[in-house]
Amino acid sequence: MHLGVNVDHVATVRQARMTFEPDPVMAATLAILGGADGITVHLREDRRHIQDRDLRLLREVVPVELNLEMAATDEMVRIAIEVKPDMVTLVPEKRQELTTEGGLNVIEQKEHLKEVIQRLHDAGLPVSLFINPHPMDIDVSKEIGADMVEIHTGMYANAKGDHQRHELLRVIEAVKFAVDVGLKANAGHGLTYYNVRPIAEIEELRGLYIGHSIISRALLVGIEQAVREMKALIE
Ligand code: PXP
Repeated sequence: MHLGVNVDHVATVRQARMTFEPDPVMAATLAILGGADGITVHLREDRRHIQDRDLRLLREVVPVELNLEMAATDEMVRIAIEVKPDMVTLVPEKRQELTTEGGLNVIEQKEHLKEVIQRLHDAGLPVSLFINPHPMDIDVSKEIGADMVEIHTGMYANAKGDHQRHELLRVIEAVKFAVDVGLKANAGHGLTYYNVRPIAEIEELRGLYIGHSIISRALLVGIEQAVREMKALIE
């Protein structure tokens, strides 16, 4: 199972003081030594954590998959085409949110997303869409040319008891359906050392994208160790 480690929170701590430390580029290197198969950063419009400089340096030093999460805007498309990450994950973005709150509204934004995917494809960049576990969103993702989808696991992560089992089934069905229609399927958001196991057991899944929980553990045990522990769990 591919593990993409999101290092945005390292930059969040740095930006709290507008200083040079901790450096997400160093964190990425150590995460890779701990077994990360990829590094993810979300360059937000307001640059609240990751900066353009981080992305450029990561492109130079990350030998594994560099996944750029971004909103489907002209500015971000220009940056992606210039920096050339290994893949782009399109996500919805709202200024007021603490983190990405839901999947893309692929139905409402169908034509716009189709055009953005085409521009990224023309530059040779594979595209993943971050979507809710709905069959209709998967159909539309396929129709507009996405290569992959990342199924939002936030509802699963936030639910309890029977409700959580219901949300797990929705994720499982969405992953299977995505693979059936010919998309690669990933999952992410809200996954922790305590809730990841049932998701990691989904055979059709290509990979998991995890940030908060790994970086939180890294504060206590170091990032190499935190990544190693997550990698062992999901294998
Ligand atoms: N996948 C996507 C598309 C995200 O936006 C995020 C959060 O930046 C994650 C995965 C990681 O979520 P978490 O930090 O809750 O592990």
